[in-house]
Amino acid sequence: MDPALLQRTAEIAAEYFASLPERRVGADASLDELRSALRVDLDDAPQPARRVVEELVAAVEPGLITTQSPRYYGFVIGGGVDAAIAADWLTSVWDQNAGGFAVAPSAAVAEEVACEWLLDVLGLPGDAGVGLTTGCQMAHFTALAAARHRLLADAGWDVEADGLFGAPPVRVFVGARAHTTVFAALRMLGLGSGRVELVEADDQGRMRATDLARRLAAGTGPAIVVAQIGEVNTGAIDDMPAITQLCREHGAWCHVDGAFGLWAAASPALRGLVDGVAEADSWATDAHKWLNVPYDCGVAIVRDRASLTAAMNPFAGAEYIPQPQHDERDPSEWVPEFSRRARGFPVYAALRELGRRGLAELVERCCACARLMGEELARDPRATVLNDVVLNQVLVRFAPDGTNITDRVVAAVQREGTCWMSGTKWDGEPAMRISVCNWRTTEHDIRRSASAILEQVTRSATVPRALTERPARR
Ligand SMILES: Cc1ncc(COP(=O)(O)O)c(C=O)c1O
Repeated sequence: MDPALLQRTAEIAAEYFASLPERRVGADASLDELRSALRVDLDDAPQPARRVVEELVAAVEPGLITTQSPRYYGFVIGGGVDAAIAADWLTSVWDQNAGGFAVAPSAAVAEEVACEWLLDVLGLPGDAGVGLTTGCQMAHFTALAAARHRLLADAGWDVEADGLFGAPPVRVFVGARAHTTVFAALRMLGLGSGRVELVEADDQGRMRATDLARRLAAGTGPAIVVAQIGEVNTGAIDDMPAITQLCREHGAWCHVDGAFGLWAAASPALRGLVDGVAEADSWATDAHKWLNVPYDCGVAIVRDRASLTAAMNPFAGAEYIPQPQHDERDPSEWVPEFSRRARGFPVYAALRELGRRGLAELVERCCACARLMGEELARDPRATVLNDVVLNQVLVRFAPDGTNITDRVVAAVQREGTCWMSGTKWDGEPAMRISVCNWRTTEHDIRRSASAILEQVTRSATVPRALTERPARR
């Protein structure tokens, strides 16, 4: 590797980070512009690596959304803490195939330790099985594969060998406000997204335990209940003590989508919000959200570790793979992938850099910033905050004179560039969702963003719609 290119890459990265405080948050290039910048003729001859990198940077720069910005509130996206970003660079440099201990002993042990720490900070059973996946969708897939294994094995069915043809049906109960990735995972597992029973949700998106009780009691046989800690729009948290109790009574497997909300357990001040969550059977969360590890890293956690390894079991019949000699961890025993990136390094680094206290403060600061954003916006009579801001999510609607102009405001804010967030629909009507998930966000950023948003409310309310929209693309 050319040391001068490494140096140049570090300079580019440093310039990017230095630009964060004032850098425009949204992208500044159209689809056509990005295509024409990137769609160059592929050369027959090799090109100098430095030129390739410089040209790549120039081409993509205008299309980058500054998700590392302290004023990026889109979807649910964390920034990266310093040690995690540095460790992530080195993960590429070391290029370990973290599939097995035999090919990547340091990666396997760093992951082993990082997984122990994750269970510790999240307050989950210390002997649970943990796998590091690409994201929460694959964490759902992984944990629900373990659920499928256990429930069907208990019913006398070997799903890994025989598939689902002729298997006892598995009932699946999912809250009406469950995240779309839960349904994707169920589809991929052959459990189907269409045959799920949707459990009623309340006005914040929490599953109604009374409706779950009624539905569970209406049938028999293997059952999975998917609860949620952190609804993607409101941050609402399901009633975990009631749900886990019902699951126990009915012998159902309780899986928790805690993509971001599970991190509340890392804060002594917020832990009470997720009371009862540790009683579940499996959990899915993301390190690339609130732990502020760069993409990508999800976490699948399963209380009964044997169910997880039975469901994954990647090395069965692979004679060329060395068998474990002692109790070493083969990372791919815990996830769907065989070969894979050593995600344990950045997770390890983030947890060490933050420490238990730093992590708790990060989560609490984001929640405080979300509350402040809600208060700043709610002071304006044109804004209605639609959710109880229990975590880091704010859901707001703008309707001066009774006309909902939220979609125009979202587009105008994205265009203006001080901050960035996305829109959604709540009760069938457009709403703006603001997610505070980045360790860099301060109260100052929140106040600045709130006034930028309100300025766009004024402009969107007074300027005719046609003038607030981008010209049609050619
Ligand atoms: C509640 C919830 N579940 C699951 C996911 C999916 O996570 P990922 O994008 O890491 O697959 C998200 C993403 O925002 C989420 O908010």
